[in-house]
Amino acid sequence: MEENTKITPWEVTSTTGIDYLKLINQFGCQPIDGKLIRRFEKVTKMHAHPWLRRGIFFSHKDLDLALDAYERGEEIYLYTGRGPSSESLHLGHMIPFMFTKYLQEAFNAIVVVQMTDDEKYYFKDSLSLEEANRLTRQNAKDIIACGFNPKKTWIFSNLETVGGSLYRNIVLIMKQTSGNMIHGIYGLDYNNSVGQFSWPCFQAAPAFSTSFDNIFKGEQIFCLVPMAIDQYPYFKMAREIGQKLGFKKPATIQSRFLPSLEQAHDKASSTGEKEVIFMNDPRETVAKKIREKAFSGGGMTKQEHIEKGANLAVDVPYHYLLYFLDDDAELKHIAHEYQSGRMMTSEIKKRVTEVIWEVVKEHQEARALITDEIVELFMNPHRDFDRSRHSRESIDHSHDEQHLGFHFDPYFGRHRPTGESSHEK
Ligand code: TRP
Repeated sequence: MEENTKITPWEVTSTTGIDYLKLINQFGCQPIDGKLIRRFEKVTKMHAHPWLRRGIFFSHKDLDLALDAYERGEEIYLYTGRGPSSESLHLGHMIPFMFTKYLQEAFNAIVVVQMTDDEKYYFKDSLSLEEANRLTRQNAKDIIACGFNPKKTWIFSNLETVGGSLYRNIVLIMKQTSGNMIHGIYGLDYNNSVGQFSWPCFQAAPAFSTSFDNIFKGEQIFCLVPMAIDQYPYFKMAREIGQKLGFKKPATIQSRFLPSLEQAHDKASSTGEKEVIFMNDPRETVAKKIREKAFSGGGMTKQEHIEKGANLAVDVPYHYLLYFLDDDAELKHIAHEYQSGRMMTSEIKKRVTEVIWEVVKEHQEARALITDEIVELFMNPHRDFDRSRHSRESIDHSHDEQHLGFHFDPYFGRHRPTGESSHEK
C-alpha cells in the first residue's frame, strides 16, 4: 500500500484514494466477481443486492465455501458488530447492518451483534465506560431499525456479556496470541494499554459458534462476517487461530467505505472532523449538508461544466447515488448526463438529497417504533432462538443484466483520472 494510505481498524487515512485491489491482495482476500454473485443467487434464491452487483461489498474470504455449506443444508450464522461511540449512527455505519439484514434473509441466519462498549472505552480517551455502555442501547435501536428478525438476532454488550462460553473461547484464543502477533498485525506496542493490546482476542471470539452456548448449544456452525474492510485484520487473525484450535474458520465479506461528504476517497467518520449525514438529521440538515459540503466533480463555471462535464470519480453526490439509488437505469442515465455536462451539479445534488432523505426518513420512522422493551428483547441471551430454515421459490434471472461485482464500472464508460479539474462547490 502507498505510504500515504493507512488502514487499521482505528484509522483510515489516504491522500491519494484507497486502492481496493491492493487491499485485497495485501489481506489475501478475493474479489467478488460476477461468477460468485451468480452462485450466491442460485444458492440463496435471492436477487443479488445492489451492493454486490455494484462492487460495494467487493471482497471476501471463503464466501464460496459458505455457499457450498449452505447448499449442502448446513446452517450458517452471521456475526458483525459496532463500537458505540456516538449517539446516532451515520450513513456509513448503516452499510454493514443493512447488508447483514439482507444476508439474514438470504441465509435464514442467526445474527449476533457484538456491541463493543469496552473496545470504545479502551480506544477513545474522552469516553467513559458508563457512557459507552449507555450508547450501546441507543445504537442498538438504530441496528434493530434495519429490520432484523427478533427470533434470530442477538445483540449483546460485550462489557455485560463476557463470561461463560464466550470467555472460554477468549481464553483459548488469548493463549494462542503472542504479543508479537498483536504488534505485527495491528502495530500496537508497549505504549498501548493492556486493554487495547488484548482487544483483538475479544473481537475474534464471536466468529466461533462455540462462544454462544445460549444459541448453538456447543455445535460448530459456519460463521460469515460482514464488515467494512478496515476490520479484516481481526478476522485474518481469527482464521489463523481458529485453525489451530480446530474451529471452523470464519468466512468474511468486506465493503468499501462510504465517503465523507468532503472527499470521495476517504471514510465517513463520526469523530467530528469529517462532515457526514447522521441517521437522526432532520430533512433540512441533510439538504444543507449536501448542498454546502458535498464535494462536487462538476465544472468550476457553468461554461466549463457544459464543455468538460463532471468528473464522477471525485463527485461525492454521485458516489452516494451509487450506494443508495437502486434503479440501475436511472443511475446510468445520470452518469451519462452529468459526465457530458448536460446535467448540472445543482440537479444531481437535488436528486441525491431526495434519495438520501428517503433512506434517512424511513430509518427514523422505523427507529421511532423501537421501545426500550424491544431493545431488551433483542439483548436477552436466554430465549429460544429460531434456527429453522425456510424454503424459497426459485427466482427468474432471465432478464437480469450481467453481474460484474468488483469489475462493475461505476462510471459507465468514460474515465477521467482522479483529481482532474475538480474542486469544492
Ligand atoms: N470494532 C468494530 C467497531 O469499532 C465493532 C465490531 C466488533 C465489529 N465486532 C465486529 C465490526 C465484527 C465488524 C465485525 O465498530
